[in-house]
Amino acid sequence: MSRSPSAPGPLAGRRILLIVGGGIAAYKALDLIRRLRDRGAAVRPLLTESAQEFITPLAAASLAGERAHTDLFDRESEAEIGHIRLARDADAVVVAPATANMMARMATGHAPDLAATVLLATTLPILIAPAMNVRMWLHPATQRNLATLKGDGVAVVGPNEGAMAEAEFGPGRLAEPHEIADALEAMLVQRSEPRDFGFLAGREVPKKLAGRHVLVTSGPTHEAIDPVRYLANRSSGRQGHAVAAAAAAAGARVTLVSGPVTIPDPAGVAVVRVESARAMLAAVEAALPADLAVFAAAVGDWRPAETRDAKIKKDGHAPAPLALVENPDILATISARAEGRPPLVVGFAAETDAVLDNARKKIARKGCDLIVANDVSAEGGVMGGSENTVHLVARDGSVETWPKLDKEEVGRRLVARFAALLEARRG
Ligand code: CTP
Repeated sequence: MSRSPSAPGPLAGRRILLIVGGGIAAYKALDLIRRLRDRGAAVRPLLTESAQEFITPLAAASLAGERAHTDLFDRESEAEIGHIRLARDADAVVVAPATANMMARMATGHAPDLAATVLLATTLPILIAPAMNVRMWLHPATQRNLATLKGDGVAVVGPNEGAMAEAEFGPGRLAEPHEIADALEAMLVQRSEPRDFGFLAGREVPKKLAGRHVLVTSGPTHEAIDPVRYLANRSSGRQGHAVAAAAAAAGARVTLVSGPVTIPDPAGVAVVRVESARAMLAAVEAALPADLAVFAAAVGDWRPAETRDAKIKKDGHAPAPLALVENPDILATISARAEGRPPLVVGFAAETDAVLDNARKKIARKGCDLIVANDVSAEGGVMGGSENTVHLVARDGSVETWPKLDKEEVGRRLVARFAALLEARRG
């Protein structure tokens, strides 16, 4: 990605803590400092002891225009700037090069030096750029650590393939500085609330919903035709379950009314399992009062007019056409309650076309406060998939579109937004 130095990009005004690990690739960290500064970021370098075998703190500090932190310097000046402040006082942390040893420390939480201590203490978004010998990279231990780190929400760039210092070839080379800078920009764009990242990564959770009761519907409904057949839809329940999980992580008491799904129950959530739309409505009404109700379920709009007690047999001829009747609209019913309406009612809109127009009509028709609209046309793969692009539609018709994110991230961001809306209403 090339950009004139003056054009503001995602790094403009950002503060980056750059942790430099050991290895021959450490020299590229100097170029990285320069590039990050070119893109408008302020860089605070932190060198491990082995990094100092390859580059000096003075070189890093000269390029950064800031003092470089090292174990020695920080032992002397812990009172001046402690490791906790280092871990907080930035918008993101970049580890480049990240050695096998450093990845192992990060994955296990072992913190024998300043760099590892800061990495353990930080809740900021972290990007690592691994660099090591190809055999070390491919070793199952490193690959296990890599998987652990990704699971912890750590972003990874590289390593690249190529000729290595020991006349070997394969993956292990540090990503190029411009690639690291691009990956950092992408990470900061995706995670637009960096100060909240610890919470977003599930590592540190501000209890913004403590004392609140949150009610969430999720999953499809099954509308029985006979004892073995039903009408259903493709909803997996992932988005609704992610909202429930994020609300619980934010300190709420959560009731999740779920249609039949195959995904696990979220931790710390009271789950009420139902099959049909009518059962879902009854369970929702029984769970009230709530401070916030989020209707993420893909409720079947219709059910068979009649459910047979016995299996319908073929009997050698085509069955009678299935007569359908409309199901109750749970969202509209709860939104219209004169008494006991939750102060914040959020609907979802699953649309295959004219997403925003339909969502605007839906918010008026259903009487809710906010609609989370998404495009569920087959090409997007949203229904049953792991990612979602959502648009937040408010009652005044205004729209906010979020980038494509995984459904867990969407859930966390939605919950952060709902918490802020509830707070604003109270305040
Ligand atoms: N909803 C509900 N009860 C229903 C139907 C929908 O509570 N019987 C809720 C959903 O949980 C969602 C919102 O209403 O929050 C919109 O769902 P959607 O399927 O997009 O809309 P429909 O009302 O079914 O409208 P249409 O099928 O015409 O798009």
